[in-house]
Formats: sequence, structure tokens, C-alpha cells
Amino acid sequence: TRVVVLVSGRGSNMAALIDAAAAEPDFPAGIVAVISNRPGAGALTIAERAGIATAIVDHKAYGSRAEFDAALDKAIRSFEPDLVCLAGFMRILTDGFIEGWAGRLINIHPALLPSFKGLDTHARALAAGVKLHGCTVHIVTAEMDSGPIIAQAAVPVLDGDDEDALAARVLAAEHLLYVRALKLWAEGRVRVTDGKALVDAGGD
Ligand code: GRF
Repeated sequence: TRVVVLVSGRGSNMAALIDAAAAEPDFPAGIVAVISNRPGAGALTIAERAGIATAIVDHKAYGSRAEFDAALDKAIRSFEPDLVCLAGFMRILTDGFIEGWAGRLINIHPALLPSFKGLDTHARALAAGVKLHGCTVHIVTAEMDSGPIIAQAAVPVLDGDDEDALAARVLAAEHLLYVRALKLWAEGRVRVTDGKALVDAGGD
């Protein structure tokens, strides 16, 4: 499975995917390229050091979302991927773009969906007083943070947690979860029926 990862920032989830693919001899996916919409993204440096092809499609260079998405789509397709992974990619994608990758575009969200869609998930979880928080890998559909859920991981919210402490606990879970979800997808174990992902976890 050829994978293109889309990033905007730090790239720790991207790094987790790259590292897993490099470390596990039987890993069923390879990261063929990393594309950023931000020229200065730290993720690009990490990818380059790992010997992975990188590209920048700067949203600021385009007059509309549709034009940006068309350029992004073209850049992605030049690497002929089977799957596109969003990893801290901070642009909203147009319906047309998403349609073009239906079933082959996945995202990691730092909350237990359908709770806390959107931004600032950790602050909102703390404000709500939830005792469990976590992360979700899902298939991307037109409605934001609402596509079929492939896998989730929960972490406790502890007394005295601030946003940074909670974010760090979730992030550690994200890195493991994204690797697991990518593996499941790449092994053909994810099937969407009635808007839900049926996941054959096999012997995992
Ligand atoms: C992660 O928490 C991810 O879930 C969210 O943005 C953050 C990106 O972090 N969408 P990184 O760039 O992967 O380090």
C-alpha cells in the first residue's frame, strides 16, 4: 500500500507512521511522500531526514479552496498512492476533493468522536469534566470529523491535568493508534457498510 501523508505542522503522527513502516519488516504500507500546505512545517524536515519525498502546496498561493484542492490533488496523484493519511493537516478540504478519494482518505482526530469534533479538543474535554478522552482514526467524508470510525484509543483524564498534560497523554496514544489503523486499512481489513466501518481485527 502506497501512502501519501498530508501535514501542516510538527509531524509527530507522520513520524510514527514513517518509523513503523521502516522498523517492521512486514509492515503492509510504505510512506511514499509527505505533502505540506505550510512551507515551514517541521514535518518536512523530519520526512527529508528519513529519505522520504516531500512537496509543498502552499494554500496562500491559490485564490480559492477549489484551486488549492486541485493543485493538492495533482501533487498527491503524482505519487500514485493507494491511501492518503491526514496527520495534523489543518485545511478544510472541499467535497469534490474528498469524493475523489472516497474510502482512501483517513484522518486522526484528538478526541473520542463523535465527542469534541473540531478544534481545541483537549480544552473542551477538560471544561466538560469527562473522565475518558482519547483519539480516533476515521475515514474522511464531506461532513467534518464524522466519517466511519476505524479505531479509537481512550486515555484517562486525571485530576490536575492541564491542557498540555492531557494533550501529551493523547498524543502518545495517537502515535500507536494511527500505526494500528494504517495497518488494518492496508491489510484490507476495513470495510464500510451503512456508513460504518467494519473492522476485522484478526489476531491483533
Ligand atoms: C494531532 O493531535 C492530531 O490528532 C491533530 O493535530 C495534531 C498534529 O500533531 N489533528 P502532529 O503534527 O502529528 O505532531
